[in-house]
Amino acid sequence: MKILVTGGAGFIGSHTIVELIEHGYDPIIVDDLRNSEGFIVNHIGKISGRKVPHYNIDFGNIEKISSLFKEESPEGVIHFAADKSVNESVNNPIKYYENNISNLINLLKVISNHSIEAFVFSSSCTVYGSPEKIPVNESAQIKSAFSPYGYTKQVGERILLDFFKTKPETSLSLLRYFNPIGAHPSGLIGELPIGIPTNLIPYITQTAIGKRDSLTVHGNDYETIDGTCIRDYIHVVDLANAHVLTLQDGIYNKETLILNVGTGKGHSVMEVINGFETVNNVNLKFNIGPRREGDVPAIYADNHLITKKINWKPRYDLDDCLKHAWKWEKRLAEK
Ligand code: NAD
Ligand code: WQD
Repeated sequence: MKILVTGGAGFIGSHTIVELIEHGYDPIIVDDLRNSEGFIVNHIGKISGRKVPHYNIDFGNIEKISSLFKEESPEGVIHFAADKSVNESVNNPIKYYENNISNLINLLKVISNHSIEAFVFSSSCTVYGSPEKIPVNESAQIKSAFSPYGYTKQVGERILLDFFKTKPETSLSLLRYFNPIGAHPSGLIGELPIGIPTNLIPYITQTAIGKRDSLTVHGNDYETIDGTCIRDYIHVVDLANAHVLTLQDGIYNKETLILNVGTGKGHSVMEVINGFETVNNVNLKFNIGPRREGDVPAIYADNHLITKKINWKPRYDLDDCLKHAWKWEKRLAEK
């Protein structure tokens, strides 16, 4: 079964392509490489032993996407392609509204002329903002978004729910990811942050390899076990697997799903730092800085629904994530 994967050369998309192949699907990558590199597509081939078709096109280009749908007739779509930096979205909101919303609408215009079995969308725990109760479940009230990026995910979800009500033959799944980290255990694919990373794990690995002088911990005066923020870090391969199980469920059960994808466990920034040093036997230079604006003190997933609906469970723990992230960073340094 052919599955069109927008953003398939990106961090989460590339791992999902590998999982799709392992589960017998025929993925097609649509990615204009604006935030990824061509060698990732080659490395997917090395891992899976298969050359995956890659179309270097902007998914917002209606004419090209329309021709692609006619040529390939995909039966499912997983939509990863988007811009994803919270900070950048504050400084350049139009870029985010254009790529994450206008281009999504263009894609849906094309889909409205085709019949597909299932559509899976990359949403984010950012839609919850600062939740009143943790672990947060899918029925938590969605409050005003903290950033234009977060707003694009809230609006994207709404647009998709409205659109797919008009297409009952297609199942829709909205996956709300918590903090995806790690890399493929082979060390062949992983995250490629452009410029100075703002996310914790790439900042840690780049500091450990010597690309950055020191990691700044953004605040240690929160009301948490050690004063640093708590997040739900999920291995990217587990997240990729959740997409395949969701797709399978969508194809056979035709239900609309809104699912948290997280491990259900929270870890503090200091736990991540200490864990990284221990599992990889490296010393990390870090200092304590002020709080970062917009940071939620603690958030982690209630993942009962995803376990019940698609029988998904994470295979990897935080140590695995930190080992694989370090293996990937060392591999990048050899390039
Ligand atoms: P990524 O930047 O690594 O991958 C996105 C890919 O989409 C890139 O390869 C980029 O080149 C491509 N792309 C972007 N716009 C495009 C366009 N108009 N046409 C063609 N290709 C385009 O990001 P990621 O971390 O893999 O995230 C994937 C999705 O998951 C995004 O929608 C993101 O918002 C969402 N998400 C990510 C995280 C995270 O922490 N990484 C958390 C929650 C949700
Ligand atoms: C994790 C923790 C930081 C860097 C972001 C987006 C969210 C989602 C996932 C897309 C926080 C601390 C970080 C550093 C630090 N993405 N930190 N020093 O902010 O939880 O989530 O990525 O949808 O929408 O907001 O992830 O990795 O930036 O931060 O102390 O140099 O690490 O303060 O507590 P975050 P993160």
